Amino acid sequence: MSIDPAIAADPVQHAPVRVPEHLGVIMDGNGRWAIARGKRRTEGHIEGVKALRNLVELCINYGVKHLTVFSFSSENWTRPREEVAFIFNLLRRFVASDLQRLIRNNVKVRIIGTREGLEPSLVRVIDDVEAKTAGNTGLVLVVAFNYGAKAEIAEATRRIAREVAAGRLSADDICEATIDAALYTAGLPDPDLIIRTSGEQRISNFLLWQAAYAEFVFVDEHWPDFDESSFVRVLETFSRRDRRFGGIGTAQK
Ligand code: FPP
Repeated sequence: MSIDPAIAADPVQHAPVRVPEHLGVIMDGNGRWAIARGKRRTEGHIEGVKALRNLVELCINYGVKHLTVFSFSSENWTRPREEVAFIFNLLRRFVASDLQRLIRNNVKVRIIGTREGLEPSLVRVIDDVEAKTAGNTGLVLVVAFNYGAKAEIAEATRRIAREVAAGRLSADDICEATIDAALYTAGLPDPDLIIRTSGEQRISNFLLWQAAYAEFVFVDEHWPDFDESSFVRVLETFSRRDRRFGGIGTAQK
């Protein structure tokens, strides 16, 4: 994790803002955005994809290196079947419509979560987008899909236990790095900043282990309304945070 994230010039206001190395986003409020406009919830998800596309560009322009977005949680299976199917199709459509643009923009895509319960054809889409962007060296776009942090930690624990049972690892050698390496996010820095839209102030099973020292910024806009000015306001808030990581902070030294 970087404790000294880059300072970038904000292209809109030319004010220096601190840019997280790894940004996490809980894209909440698509349904409410749509209902408030007399539309179907699914139309909110379509607008949500546009906001995601815009955020990817913002991250590239501002120098964010890793972006993790929560797009379908293990708990979202409790939604009406048609809405679940719609979100699954959205992932297919996003890949179909945006793959070439992602490749052109040097974006590397990683999809984290369990493949269990996904149709084989969707798993192929996921494998394909990961393979076709694997060599890219720019922004790493991590899509948390069919993801739940508790399930991720349980899976990591099973993986580590198997290593111990096979005699390849001693229980006494298990440390934080062992767990980091067994999570879906292995190799990624921890998120510096997590944004949640739509006024809710909770983490909802997103990156529980990795968010140990993340700053949280909650904004009232619904996800489809999250634009560049929202992004800049969040970066300004983040820039004012005194990140102490359990220490006493620079102001008191
Ligand atoms: C939250 O709104 C959003 C979701 C559950 C995920 C929908 C997906 C996207 C925004 C786009 C990206 C998707 C892919 C597959 C790339 P909500 O339905 O929880 O809104 P509500 O809280 O107002 O009901």
